[in-house]
Amino acid sequence: MNKLDAKTDHYRNLARTLGYRSRSAFKLLELNKKYRIIKRNFFVLDLGCAPGGWMQVSKKLVGSQGKVVGVDISNIDEIKGTHFIKTDIYYSQNMDNLIKYFGRKIDSVICDISPQVIGVRSLDHIKQIELINKCVQIMDSILSKNGNALFKVFDGEHAQQFKRDLKSRFIKFKATKPKSSRKSSSETYCVGLGYL
Ligand SMILES: C[S@@+](CC[C@H](N)C(=O)[O-])C[C@H]1O[C@@H](n2cnc3c(N)ncnc32)[C@H](O)[C@@H]1O
Repeated sequence: MNKLDAKTDHYRNLARTLGYRSRSAFKLLELNKKYRIIKRNFFVLDLGCAPGGWMQVSKKLVGSQGKVVGVDISNIDEIKGTHFIKTDIYYSQNMDNLIKYFGRKIDSVICDISPQVIGVRSLDHIKQIELINKCVQIMDSILSKNGNALFKVFDGEHAQQFKRDLKSRFIKFKATKPKSSRKSSSETYCVGLGYL
């Protein structure tokens, strides 16, 4: 087994042992430890949440007084104490209703959304950029002043522009790659702290 496979395997096994639904859970745990994107009692929206690894982590972080709402086109098995909405993020009626589920503007938006990748990096990149730009629009309508955000972006020709747009909305911004992300993967995670 090469080093890369061993690392992938390590996080997959760890996820199984700890009861997380995805190895992505470790990316959020790692980034949150460093940047405190989600804190106790926070209201959190998870865009592109299936199968629910980030929702599991978020629920633990916010505790019983916080709220976690996940959105995905694919179904997920229930995660106790969270709310799931099965919808396409482009279906604006459901997105407009989000605020009703929370009852107020929220504290964090996290977004690990990816299209069904076809393996052609440039095309996968463009599809993902479209998705995350839509998610930024949703964020703009629901994130409270001083709120935080986490967005995955695939590297490619539009990534820099996306990072600039996101950065302009926050007091602090960092683009980073967590250790638990595969070296070969083209993903970067953008952290925004203190929504303006
Ligand atoms: C990498 S997965 C998210 C993994 C998740 N963070 C976890 O820890 O379990 C990306 C998700 O984006 C969702 N997605 C892609 N396009 C979408 C759309 N238009 N509307 C809603 N969800 C979408 C996919 O269905 C997929 O479940």
